[in-house]
Amino acid sequence: MTLEGPDGSGKTTQIARLRQRLENEGFVVVQTREPGGTPIADRIRALILDPAHREMTARAEALLYMAARAQHTAELIRPALARGAVVISDRYADSTLVYQGVARGLPQAELVELNRFATEGLTPDLTLLLDGDPERLAQRLTDRGNRDRLDSEGLEFHRRVREGFLRLAAQHPDRFRVIDGDRPPECVQSSIETCVLDFLQKRGCTHGVARQ
Ligand code: TYD
Repeated sequence: MTLEGPDGSGKTTQIARLRQRLENEGFVVVQTREPGGTPIADRIRALILDPAHREMTARAEALLYMAARAQHTAELIRPALARGAVVISDRYADSTLVYQGVARGLPQAELVELNRFATEGLTPDLTLLLDGDPERLAQRLTDRGNRDRLDSEGLEFHRRVREGFLRLAAQHPDRFRVIDGDRPPECVQSSIETCVLDFLQKRGCTHGVARQ
């Protein structure tokens, strides 16, 4: 499963809490993130997010995300799924469709194909979209002093990102659940837990693989 959403939406905190809750329920959980997740993908991450790389073209950036994703999927995600773990990734293929596709204007259909190539067709069973008001999120990023190359984009960019995610969620209602992130963290956490536990129960995973 994946957690997606605009920058500053609190994904990272929520993933850590979700992981804890699932482990308490007896599930074996592998928590990971994109770009990154393996040593090679982490090096690609540093390359992409380096503020000095202003001249990086949108296409070069997209291909670097894909390269990191291919490595991450093959080296970490697929083996973890094969062991029966619940894999939770902080961002995955949908982020490219939104950031590089909607926000930077690269052709969606080609990005969909590249995603398929990079992941060999792996798609999350469940994607939680942590939605939030772009102005509030931008303020949070400023408060955090977060100034990597992508976080320092303008408000308009963040608005496009939000719209892009909401559109994607509407296109794939089977796997997307939209969570209102403009609430206290405890409320967001409880919505996420309900959603995920309900999903796992429906998949017949009530006891958690660790206890079986
Ligand atoms: P991340 O470190 O997850 O930022 P945050 O913690 O704010 O969510 O992601 C770094 C940036 O990379 C983020 O601005 C979104 C961007 N990104 C893309 O543009 N395309 C992608 O495919 C992915 C995975 C991330």
